Amino acid sequence: MTVSRILPLLLFASVAHAEPPWGKVDLQAAPELHQKACAGCHIRMYGGDGSKMYTRDGRMLSTQLELLQRVGACNAQMNAGWFPEEEGTVAAWLNQRYYRFEN
Ligand code: HEC
Repeated sequence: MTVSRILPLLLFASVAHAEPPWGKVDLQAAPELHQKACAGCHIRMYGGDGSKMYTRDGRMLSTQLELLQRVGACNAQMNAGWFPEEEGTVAAWLNQRYYRFEN
């Protein structure tokens, strides 16, 4: 392979790296998915709309990737049966609303 062929690949890799781990997702489906599979339990714990789970002091997460992994873990635990895209959608939505992790 020539350099002119490798260079675009390297550029692509660095750009891809700057993207969030969930890639491009459509946030529209997130509120309903979250409401169905996730909110009830957090509400039982914290009351209100349960969102205190995501804003509490000493929360466990500090990066986008950890957030995505946590969503995946909760999904697996719940047997919600979400596809990876759905985990990504909900993680992105939680980040936009609550966490605001930049990376
Ligand atoms: C059966 C109850 C239950 C259900 C259902 C549930 N969770 Fe959780 N979730 C918890 C508990 C308990 C914790 C806190 C764990 C801890 O403090 O160690 C938690 C923590 C979290 C956190 C981390 C909060 C923080 O500290 O910042 C996220 C994110 C999260 N849940 C997302 C989800 C998502 C997404 C779903 C739906 C797929 C879901 N949860 C469903 C019980 C639940």
